[in-house]
Amino acid sequence: MNIKYFENKEEMIGVAANLLITEIKRNPKLLLCAATGSSPLELYGNLAKNSMTNNNLYRQLRIVKLDEWLGLKDLRGSCEAYLQQELLKPLGISKENYIAFDAQTQDPKEECLRIQDQLKINGSIDICVLGLGKNGHLGFNEPGLVLEPNCHIAQLTTQSQHHHMVAEEEQKPKFGITLGMKDIVDSKRILLIVSGKEKELAKRELFSGKINTQCPASLLWLHNNVDCFVLNE
Ligand code: GLP
Repeated sequence: MNIKYFENKEEMIGVAANLLITEIKRNPKLLLCAATGSSPLELYGNLAKNSMTNNNLYRQLRIVKLDEWLGLKDLRGSCEAYLQQELLKPLGISKENYIAFDAQTQDPKEECLRIQDQLKINGSIDICVLGLGKNGHLGFNEPGLVLEPNCHIAQLTTQSQHHHMVAEEEQKPKFGITLGMKDIVDSKRILLIVSGKEKELAKRELFSGKINTQCPASLLWLHNNVDCFVLNE
């Protein structure tokens, strides 16, 4: 894991955006997996800005949504609404180039199979942009005795249920739907962005270098092409 510390968010985002843009230039059709939350928000903003003068670059880009809440009343807090607003619309990603769990699915099990199938058809992820959960989760791969390799329905921890994206939901979502750990570590390249408050414990677990299913992000130590950008806050 190539860990890089930054004192300044703008600088971190600039370096992260350059990394992505270089990869997209090298392979304009690449499959990018996108997390939501606050960690990658400015990174997507940076790409959106770049696309204003460089829109052709993103024409063939394919995007897969990392995870989604299940059973939200207010879809404004969904990962879908976030990605549409921050990434898909600004970059002009077509429907054909977007793979995503349906936030309103009535059959989440079937939805897992559908997305797993889509991943198989599209080949493995070229670059996976991740944020570190406060409890060490990646997507909705929550800490536990065992981790799921593929797309699955996840029972959310209390910590995840209180994530700011669903702050407006009176009845907190109990479940999420997510790519699994194998889907993530099968990515050719991974960019993990570590920023935000209350991440100290997760950082300590991750940077101990030990692999522990109670800190799903620690499985990234098994991958040989991970950039981990950490904002010193
Ligand atoms: C949520 C999202 C994930 C995100 C994580 C970290 O669980 N579903 O996709 O990576 O939280 O969020 P943040 O970056 O806001 O700390």
